[in-house]
Amino acid sequence: MRSDILQNNKPIPIGFVGGGKNSWIGNTHRIASRIDGRYIIKAGVFSSDPEVSKEFSMSLGIPEHRSYSNFLEMAEKESSLEDGIKVVCICTPPSNHYEIAKIFIEKNIHIICDKPMTTNLEDAKKLYELIKKKKILFCLTHNYTGYPMVRQARQMILDRQIGDVHMVNVEYPQGSLPAMDPKFAKELLGWRAIENDQGVGLSTVVSDLATHTFHIAQYVSSLKVVKISADVSKNVKSIGVDDNVHAMLRFENKATGLLWSSFAATGGEHGLRVRVFGSKGAIDWIQDQPNQLSFFSLDGPTQTFTRASKWVSKFSMENSRVAAGHPEGFFEAFANLYTDLADAINNNSDFNVINEKKVFPNAEDGLEGLKFVYAVKKSSNNNGEWTEL
Ligand SMILES: NC(=O)c1ccc[n+]([C@@H]2O[C@H](COP(=O)([O-])OP(=O)(O)OC[C@H]3O[C@@H](n4cnc5c(N)ncnc54)[C@H](O)[C@@H]3O)[C@@H](O)[C@H]2O)c1
Repeated sequence: MRSDILQNNKPIPIGFVGGGKNSWIGNTHRIASRIDGRYIIKAGVFSSDPEVSKEFSMSLGIPEHRSYSNFLEMAEKESSLEDGIKVVCICTPPSNHYEIAKIFIEKNIHIICDKPMTTNLEDAKKLYELIKKKKILFCLTHNYTGYPMVRQARQMILDRQIGDVHMVNVEYPQGSLPAMDPKFAKELLGWRAIENDQGVGLSTVVSDLATHTFHIAQYVSSLKVVKISADVSKNVKSIGVDDNVHAMLRFENKATGLLWSSFAATGGEHGLRVRVFGSKGAIDWIQDQPNQLSFFSLDGPTQTFTRASKWVSKFSMENSRVAAGHPEGFFEAFANLYTDLADAINNNSDFNVINEKKVFPNAEDGLEGLKFVYAVKKSSNNNGEWTEL
């Protein structure tokens, strides 16, 4: 298990850009960075308002001289310090991921960035090339692929336990918009309601939510989506953003799939689910019960694999921390990506090694996410025409 692996390495100094007071995901990143003791938080800028940023930074115990006013100052100063940060976490809204990542990459600082990698495809391509050129390790927090039982599913499919993959169905039905008072929607959604480069990117539901769904479909099946036929809709008219996407998928091996992501699924809380059907079996995983994986086989009765039981793969076991029966969840899965990156840094892995091993989502996944967003919107605008990624 993760917790049995000796921690010979000194914690890696990390800084944060974004994720300040009342942000959605900032605290999760900080918790994830601490779970395995692999990082030490040394610097940060947590708001575009320098005063707000400094106050929050110092409340986290970061000294005043490393509580910066803006990310440019942080990149400049940290890269000149002997004990400066080696990794920066970017958890600002997507509109400034590109400019923040670029400046830190140029200073040879590794990156943990939240999704989507950028708001537009052009910036994603530029960032991908720069990351490759500078041999920077880049982890994109598609955190759902950090769950031990998602990694178990991937391993079982790689080991051909379900035979040839025929169908991949992924769904992520949230119900936040029908439950929202339209009077406060603009304020509550903030940048998520701005469907362009100043906000979320091309589409609220596709850029913000379906990029996760798409990523997990490819991760679990180990197959690339090559074509998409999509229908994006605006159901909660009083709010008026893209809030639902249905898409048919065609994979490189001719497998087919269905992807559904929604902010308009009334009553939905989270509901991320992945089902993969093969020639001799199938798997089914639901984030609401993340410690279990259902396995159907033509050769025997239906089985439930449980996290950290003696029946799971080495890959899955290595991503657990406590014995079977004790629930692990969202924070631990998130932390697995942080620890994967720490291992990669300490082992001097390069971009290509990570690419092959696929332990954490990287720049290639970020670029594919943007290609997915563009293909979905193009297809939907053309009445569901099959569109290549
Ligand atoms: N992986 C997940 O499960 C998950 C969940 C939620 C959000 N996200 C992603 O995380 C990112 C942030 O989302 P959020 O919902 O937390 O956003 P948010 O609006 O709640 O918080 C953004 C934070 O960034 C800070 N910020 C903005 N501009 C800044 C700048 N120039 N310098 C420093 N700080 C700045 C804000 O002050 C705020 O604290 C987005 O890319 C989003 O898609 C991922």
